[in-house]
Amino acid sequence: MHVVVTGASSGIGEAIAREYIARGAAVTLIARRRALLEAIAESAPAGKTCVLDRDLSQSEAAPAILAEAEAALGPIDVLINNAGIQIVGPVTVTDFDDATRLLHLDLHTPLRLTHAILPSMIARRSGTIVDIASVAALAPTPGMFFYNAAKGGLAAASEGLRAEVKPYGVHVVTVYPGPVESAMEAAARTHYEESAVMGGLPTGKPELLARRIASAVERRRPRVIYPRVYVLSRLFPGLTRWVTDRMTPALR
Ligand SMILES: NC(=O)c1ccc[n+]([C@@H]2O[C@H](COP(=O)([O-])OP(=O)(O)OC[C@H]3O[C@@H](n4cnc5c(N)ncnc54)[C@H](OP(=O)(O)O)[C@@H]3O)[C@@H](O)[C@H]2O)c1
Repeated sequence: MHVVVTGASSGIGEAIAREYIARGAAVTLIARRRALLEAIAESAPAGKTCVLDRDLSQSEAAPAILAEAEAALGPIDVLINNAGIQIVGPVTVTDFDDATRLLHLDLHTPLRLTHAILPSMIARRSGTIVDIASVAALAPTPGMFFYNAAKGGLAAASEGLRAEVKPYGVHVVTVYPGPVESAMEAAARTHYEESAVMGGLPTGKPELLARRIASAVERRRPRVIYPRVYVLSRLFPGLTRWVTDRMTPALR
């Protein structure tokens, strides 16, 4: 099995890459920080990893990266669209070039990679696309204007694709992480005023999320919402909107 993980150098992507290495898969690791990718690849047997240090915010270059991965480790069985950045702050002070970079990395690149990989998965009548969206797609968070747009767009595309490609043997898993320990999650917290709500937010571990994702791929489950408590935001969207608008702390 060949698994491609974007954003594999840290956090959730690193945990997913390590989970698949532990399961004996061949893994392509993509991100910018090569030294971190190589350190993760060292835990795999020789010939089972491919390290590609690439900037995925140049979304037009993304399909060529898949060709490199296939040349190294063969046809791709699982594509995990995980790489992402976040901007937290007032929309009016956000630099639009930064926002454009976010929209390319978090939305255009996953769509482009999926568009590029699907023909070969459909021809082989097998394969899985995993999209790491966010609970922000279910409960858009005040202070995350561009991130909400990117993750909402990715989740909608991902959910709608599943039935389209099912007749061809291709599966789609949409992932909605709530807060999960990582550099991104720690940075996000610093942008909001201290509050009991922020302190009490259920927060997950990347390793546990990675295991759930691998299990969802194996069992062909449609989606993963983790930590589990955030399933409530999918079940009760109106109540979630009401709570999110009133309980999100002010931006610093
Ligand atoms: N942690 C959470 O609470 C949470 C919640 C919901 C959703 N998510 C989503 O989960 C995904 C992973 O986030 P994380 O929390 O694990 O954050 P993280 O530790 O900051 O990881 C982000 C990953 O994306 C890569 N990346 C960033 N910019 C890139 C670029 N221009 N080109 C290629 N790779 C790039 C980073 O690698 P390099 O810097 O080496 O390039 C890193 O491997 C993101 O899509 C995020 O939106 C996270």
